[in-house]
Amino acid sequence: MEKMLREMRERVMQNIKEARATANLEQIRVAALGKKGELTALLRGMGKLPPEERPKMGQLVNDVRAALETELEKRAAELAEKEKAARLAAETIDVTLPGPERSAGSLHPMNIALRKMVDIFVGMGYEEVVGPEVEYDHYNFELLNVPKNHPARDAQDTFYVEDNIVLRSQTSPVQARIMTTRKPPIRIISPGRVYRADEADATHSPVFHQMEGLVIDENITMGDLKGTLDEFARQMYGEGIQTRFRPSFFPFTEPSAEVDLTCANCKGAGCRMCKGTGWIEVLGAGMVNPRVLEMCGIDSHKYSGFAFGMGVERIALLKYNIPNLRYLYENDLRFLTQYR
Ligand code: PHE
Repeated sequence: MEKMLREMRERVMQNIKEARATANLEQIRVAALGKKGELTALLRGMGKLPPEERPKMGQLVNDVRAALETELEKRAAELAEKEKAARLAAETIDVTLPGPERSAGSLHPMNIALRKMVDIFVGMGYEEVVGPEVEYDHYNFELLNVPKNHPARDAQDTFYVEDNIVLRSQTSPVQARIMTTRKPPIRIISPGRVYRADEADATHSPVFHQMEGLVIDENITMGDLKGTLDEFARQMYGEGIQTRFRPSFFPFTEPSAEVDLTCANCKGAGCRMCKGTGWIEVLGAGMVNPRVLEMCGIDSHKYSGFAFGMGVERIALLKYNIPNLRYLYENDLRFLTQYR
């Protein structure tokens, strides 16, 4: 029996030394010293010993138990220490690592251009107003001197919501809304979306943006219109950009003009963007038709005024040398993030 005890002591000691984790240690302890363990089994065998040998053997069992317990504790402390070190190493945070990147949004290039346009006119004393995109026929056409069955209605392929309600085909109805509700002097701009049943291509979209301008006061002349648009062109694109007025027709202005700007891309020399002409058409304008003034309740003998409507996309394309309208609508971040 003594031999068995020594053998067991050696074996368990070795196991303890080789234990790799606290959990293994506990298994070893239960197997050796537990109620159903090896040592208990050996103790039971003591009954068969002659009585005089029992105290000595009892002493030996106690020694083995004490020795194993001490060794278990020692190894447990070592392992706990190691496990803690490993946990700390695993949880180490490298505070010098760069944080996760959060990409910031930015203004759409068309909005950058539009804000500049608004700024320029606000700087000249204009007030920014907005009108509805779903508009009465009355404001989009009637008050602008385009009666029902007038051929000019076909010129703009209008989306009808109901008989007398349209998606506005221009920002000009805001002129009518302002003239019917305010007294001169009037000096407003009104940017916003407009809708036309056009096929989408490099220069057309069924939804696009215009910015309307309207000035009504005593003694307003075509010279004021030209001076205003010249100043706008200079502030928007820089020195050397000129306006060119070409006679045109709009039912709500008389006389009317289509206005070109010097192509900002080639400075007038002629390039692909301006199709070799050196000019790019960006707006319609004219002196407010006296009939429109009267229909809106403004005395056309006392007051006169001018109006203009600019294509916001056109002006943005020209500002940034963007060759195709579609870039503005496709929301490709590789394109958009160039204009922060
Ligand atoms: N509303 C016209 C268009 O959409 C532009 C315009 C505005 C012309 C104001 C004259 C005066 O083409």
